Amino acid sequence: MRILVLNGSARPDGGTAAMAAAFARGARGAGHEVDVLDVARMDIHGCTGCEFCHTRGDGTCAQRDDMDEVYPLWDAADMIVVASPIYYGSFSGQMHCLIHRTYAGGIPRRCKRMALLLCSGAHGVYDNAEGIYRGYLQGYFGAEDCGIFEATTSEARSQAMAKRLESFGASL
Ligand SMILES: Cc1cc2nc3c(=O)[nH]c(=O)nc-3n(C[C@H](O)[C@H](O)[C@H](O)COP(=O)(O)O)c2cc1C
Repeated sequence: MRILVLNGSARPDGGTAAMAAAFARGARGAGHEVDVLDVARMDIHGCTGCEFCHTRGDGTCAQRDDMDEVYPLWDAADMIVVASPIYYGSFSGQMHCLIHRTYAGGIPRRCKRMALLLCSGAHGVYDNAEGIYRGYLQGYFGAEDCGIFEATTSEARSQAMAKRLESFGASL
């Protein structure tokens, strides 16, 4: 299976990166082809709402930036994993920009499975991010939700979480 992991944190040593890396280790160990994109380190601008994509663009975005690298992976992935820090009760801004820019191509062509990895400062702050995931991503795509993992920064970096996510990746 081709798996695309979108890491929305800019902190290489942060909790989100640790969760994404543990998942990727497990999935690669099980023979899956895994791409991890550090979304927050890429040059991805916000959607301008020009609607070029839904008119003359025929599904392509008018903007040229690092989304050009994302679109082919988005469409080739059998599974997409969204990994994000919680900022103001939602995904990071960089992750929001990426999600908005997928408005151009719409539903990913092959994606049948999804998972969500969230890292936050406090407990119990995940409802909005889960709502976006269920309403605009996994549910909208008709993909199976394979799992939602939520952790505070220290939990996300713990051995226990690494083990859980490695096992999850390996179980796919
Ligand atoms: C701009 C900003 C907004 C944040 N908003 C929240 C929040 O609403 N709720 C929360 O529990 N933690 C919040 N945090 C804390 C982060 O979620 C926490 O530091 C988390 O570890 C970040 O993920 P990372 O370690 O992968 O970078 C915020 C942090 C930043 C920088």
